[in-house]
Amino acid sequence: MKNSEQKNWFDNDKALKLYVKKLEKASKYVYRPLAKEIIKLIRKNEFEKEIKIIDIGCGPGFLLFEIKKINQEIKVIGIDPSKKMIEIAQKKAIENNIREIDLKIEYAEEISLFGGEIDVAVCQSSLSEWKNIEKGLNEIFRILKKEGFVIINDFNGEYPKWKIKWCYLIMILLAGLKSAKEHFKSKSK
Ligand SMILES: C[S@@+](CC[C@H](N)C(=O)[O-])C[C@H]1O[C@@H](n2cnc3c(N)ncnc32)[C@H](O)[C@@H]1O
Repeated sequence: MKNSEQKNWFDNDKALKLYVKKLEKASKYVYRPLAKEIIKLIRKNEFEKEIKIIDIGCGPGFLLFEIKKINQEIKVIGIDPSKKMIEIAQKKAIENNIREIDLKIEYAEEISLFGGEIDVAVCQSSLSEWKNIEKGLNEIFRILKKEGFVIINDFNGEYPKWKIKWCYLIMILLAGLKSAKEHFKSKSK
């Protein structure tokens, strides 16, 4: 299946609206702590001046906004294959007065950056969505600087099954069984 043919659950209007609203409210608790950890990592490792962070599968961009709120100098890039997500991220960036943020419609498996230019690559709850994890990871290692870091935060085998079941149920209610099934295929492995 070509990337352009991939179905994206996050293009479902009803689900997307609710999802973004909930995440925006939770930003202080979910994204701010992670943003602080990333900044700490950068300070500890004394990266060069022009620091570049990419959020792969950035969704509405909340993590990048939190990073920018702490340090405006950092260059942030957000990619996501969902056109709607990127449009929301662009709108929210303006609302939050976030400048110099590069938001692009792109897949993890095909990143339009030169090699060796990224200090930190973050994948927050997005890796389990990728159709080709190996290709995506190869892309990350291609774009990272030699001393760069990758931070992956996602579902794994230790994630409580009851929590996954709850998410699944909520998705069925929001987007219907077909859409939820499609979305959870990767998470129920
Ligand atoms: C659960 S959301 C997480 C969004 C954001 N990282 C956050 O934490 O708010 C997963 C995101 O991964 C994106 N996604 C799906 N397939 C992808 C791919 N092949 N490469 C990169 N991102 C992808 C979806 O469009 C969606 O925005």
